[in-house]
Amino acid sequence: MGGKILIVDDEKLMRISLESQLKKEGYYVKSIDNAVDGLKIVKTGEYDIVVTDLRLSGMSGIDFLKEIKKYDQEIIVVIMTAYGTLESAVSAIKEGAYDYIAKPFSTDELIIKLQRALHHKNTAAEVNRLRKEVQAEFEFCNIIGNSEAMKRVLETVKSVSGRDTTVLLRGESGTGKEKIAGAIHYHSNRRTGPFIRVSCAALNREILESELFGHERGAFTGAVKTRRGRFELANGGSIFLDDVDDIPLDMQVKLLRVLQERAFERVGGEETLCVDVRIICATKKDLLEQVKEGCFREDLFYRLNVVPINIPPLRERKEDIPLLINYFLKKYVSQYEDALPDVSQDALNALFAYNWPGNVRELENVIEHAVAFSESKGISLETLPEYLRRIDIHADLLSMDLSNKQTISLQETLTEVEKKLIQWAHQKANGNQVKMAELLGVPRTTLRNRLIKLQLFEKAL
Ligand SMILES: Nc1ncnc2c1ncn2[C@@H]1O[C@H](COP(=O)(O)OP(=O)(O)OP(=O)(O)O)[C@@H](O)[C@H]1O
Ligand SMILES: [Mg+2]
Repeated sequence: MGGKILIVDDEKLMRISLESQLKKEGYYVKSIDNAVDGLKIVKTGEYDIVVTDLRLSGMSGIDFLKEIKKYDQEIIVVIMTAYGTLESAVSAIKEGAYDYIAKPFSTDELIIKLQRALHHKNTAAEVNRLRKEVQAEFEFCNIIGNSEAMKRVLETVKSVSGRDTTVLLRGESGTGKEKIAGAIHYHSNRRTGPFIRVSCAALNREILESELFGHERGAFTGAVKTRRGRFELANGGSIFLDDVDDIPLDMQVKLLRVLQERAFERVGGEETLCVDVRIICATKKDLLEQVKEGCFREDLFYRLNVVPINIPPLRERKEDIPLLINYFLKKYVSQYEDALPDVSQDALNALFAYNWPGNVRELENVIEHAVAFSESKGISLETLPEYLRRIDIHADLLSMDLSNKQTISLQETLTEVEKKLIQWAHQKANGNQVKMAELLGVPRTTLRNRLIKLQLFEKAL
């Protein structure tokens, strides 16, 4: 494993011998006799590791170290100390040196340290890169939605993330519950702590309990060693309990205690463990309904329902579809393409007409599919999956989801329906008003009056 190493030492012999031996081992090495020039070289940003003596002329080794760390936290610094000056090595480590080596040392000794340091640096860089990637995924700007409903959801998410409150996310499959849970965690003070996800639906009873709370060795057959549960792993961060309604009734008591006291015991354990976690839950069901049916504890429900966030299904916020299409096109179109592909009108019509039972996840899959089949010719109806091509785009013209409505304004609803019918005629007649009037069975003057009243196609008038 090669790497770029800078050696700083005012002993000429030491420099020459280290440089030649490390070069033989395949490292790229440069050596210099003073810290001032050393710092200039460090600032080229090319070096992975600086191996420096602590006693230097001009600038002390410790000051040199501080300057390096000011410039770049990630450069690894290994200190060479004279025999018997361990205290200075200790203070160097406190200032951020990665390791030290006492003179005199063999090259092999140094090489072992360098290999370890390089490995550490690569892993740290990788972890950093992954963390940034994960965080970017959960940035607010990556939660797409401009509909009133989604704006409200985002406002709540923003205002609640900074606090430690328990959050209950409700929404159908694919509406973005996990994404929003992640956004809450990554915008909280716990963002550098762990974000642990548990799908309560995917695990059977025994596994779920030991998964959540851990188990002691010998707690059950197969428990060959003590295992920490997800609550312990989430300490200092957040835990996301997906499909929380699937937790069996008797285990709900244990969860309630965690919510109240942040305390629990491992399966088969006596010791009470305390954790500092923020709890975010998600459910596809109506939890209150579950309470009424006796499958969910009422006290637990109230504990979880401190801040409920309802994520509406995509069919109730179709105005978000264009933004989402654009977002997913950017995600799936190769970064080497110059521009995003065009989406044809009939493809758009089909995407609008569909009622998206799988919500945003389904739309994402459809766009990924379309990009794969578009061969950079743009998204046309033919690039959509078969089942979407068959949809009659006017099939849902008059269908409305009334299940979640408390009240309905007859006037507003009739106006909506009228608008849809006029739009239908407009499309079918290619904007020709004589034909539109014919299609709708009304005199042309009536149509014109309605168009003015409803402020439709004003440019065409
Ligand atoms: N508003 C959004 N903006 C951008 N991407 C979204 C949005 N909502 C969901 N997604 C994407 O859709 C996919 C499904 O989202 P997620 O996994 O969060 O849904 P879910 O509600 O947890 O689904 P399930 O209930 O099936 O677990 C993910 O790839 C996610 O990134
Ligand atoms: Mg999910």
